[in-house]
Amino acid sequence: MRYRVVYGVILAGLMCSAHAADKIEEVAETCSGCHGANGVSENANIPSIGGQPESYLKKILLEWKSGVRHSETMESLIKEYSIEQIGALAAYYAKKPWTPVAQKTDANLVKLGEDATRGCAGCHGDTGVANDVETPNLNGQWAEYLEMDMLKFRKGSMTVSNPKMLKALKKLSTEELKAAAAFFASQGK
Ligand code: HEC
Ligand code: HEC
Repeated sequence: MRYRVVYGVILAGLMCSAHAADKIEEVAETCSGCHGANGVSENANIPSIGGQPESYLKKILLEWKSGVRHSETMESLIKEYSIEQIGALAAYYAKKPWTPVAQKTDANLVKLGEDATRGCAGCHGDTGVANDVETPNLNGQWAEYLEMDMLKFRKGSMTVSNPKMLKALKKLSTEELKAAAAFFASQGK
């Protein structure tokens, strides 16, 4: 009995150190199961993350780890990772090319979205291509995900670090918000 306990402790210790030494590619396999190979998502409810700016990715992941940001799917999962692993994951995905996903969008909605997003261009550019390290790419991100995210920001169930961004969002009607998602989703590189 005693041997078994000791063996168990040693084994747990070995597994622990093996886990710490995991190559980041292996750690990222868990993420790719949902976010797709190279972080290009094939699921409209899951965002693509490959090629997003490193600082943006790291900030979001650390906010989940510390609990200031909420997500049913991501929050408890990220708490399992160390700060070092989070930094390495952010660097790993940031090095992948940003790949806009081709998706069906309604042309009228896209047109409405183009008008509705004029106030977003200062930070997101005309087409959603990130031009600073704190801002995510929106071009070719999944429309469903973008809409869902913006609704959560507006409702206050997810924190947004930039108060100006929240102010701009609150100016949009629910229809314009859907249109903004369709517009950015329809943009290529
Ligand atoms: C079970 C599926 C699943 C797994 C596994 C998963 N994610 Fe996610 N991830 C999601 C979903 C769904 C969202 C959108 C959640 C939300 O906004 O509440 C998300 C959002 C994100 C975002 C925010 C993207 C953005 O544009 O704001 C990042 C970054 C992220 N995940 C990174 C990771 C990393 C790194 C891993 C691996 C450690 C991982 N995810 C594992 C489902 C998953
Ligand atoms: C003052 C700069 C600024 C303005 C203006 C702005 N944004 Fe943002 N936006 C940001 C930043 C910074 C983030 C990342 C914030 C965070 O997640 O905490 C962001 C995040 C987002 C996201 C989340 C993307 C993702 O991958 O999760 C969406 C969607 C978005 N913005 C849409 C818009 C729309 C639509 C407008 C105009 C109505 C707008 N933004 C105006 C700076 C801005």
